[in-house]
Amino acid sequence: MKILGISGSLREASHNRRLLQVAASELPDGTSFELYTGLGDIPAYREEDEDGETPESVGALRAVLHDADAVLLATPEYNGSIPGQLKNALDWASRPFPDNALRNKPVAVIGASTGLFGAVWAQAELRKVLTTIGAKVVDAELPVGQAHGRLHRRRPAGRPGPAQGARPDRRAAGRGRERGQRGGLTSASGQLRGREWRWSR
Ligand SMILES: Cc1cc2nc3c(=O)[nH]c(=O)nc-3n(C[C@H](O)[C@H](O)[C@H](O)COP(=O)(O)O)c2cc1C
Repeated sequence: MKILGISGSLREASHNRRLLQVAASELPDGTSFELYTGLGDIPAYREEDEDGETPESVGALRAVLHDADAVLLATPEYNGSIPGQLKNALDWASRPFPDNALRNKPVAVIGASTGLFGAVWAQAELRKVLTTIGAKVVDAELPVGQAHGRLHRRRPAGRPGPAQGARPDRRAAGRGRERGQRGGLTSASGQLRGREWRWSR
């Protein structure tokens, strides 16, 4: 099964991106995970533009959505809702309606925030948007509050770790542009267990 991970944050050291990396490291054998990294390249949606040539970045997004068996979205909360760029990308992905790349696609939503509530409002909004688009949305949430203190880098068992309360290794955190990416994707297929973070180098 091929899972596509999408973070709604454009921030280099995004907690939501890191949350996806943790989730990817917990996937069962036989499951592949790819992280979409093209969100920042999606242009502002304008309906007239649908009559012209599809922007390359939009075509790439639709292609990876089509290709995935399921999608895992991690969203920050911005002012009680989802980030504008994520909503904009989903508006593009929703077209043509109803036969879009998300139609009947199994989708789950998770989220991290630095506040206490773990982006629960944003997750609810995102589930609403995805349901409207026609995706099969998992009726569950995963709120990770105070993410700055909780999404630490994991280390192999037996290896000494950083002092209590130390921050995660920033170099190991997600990056906006990664080597080895293709078409807005960073491949992390296979062998994710026990190799947290290493695949995002
Ligand atoms: C413009 C803006 C609005 C925000 N609004 C909220 C909010 O409504 N609720 C909340 O819990 N956190 C809010 N935050 C804090 C984010 O949850 C926090 O910055 C989070 O780390 C962003 O996700 P990221 O680390 O994946 O980039 C806001 C942050 C920004 C930049």
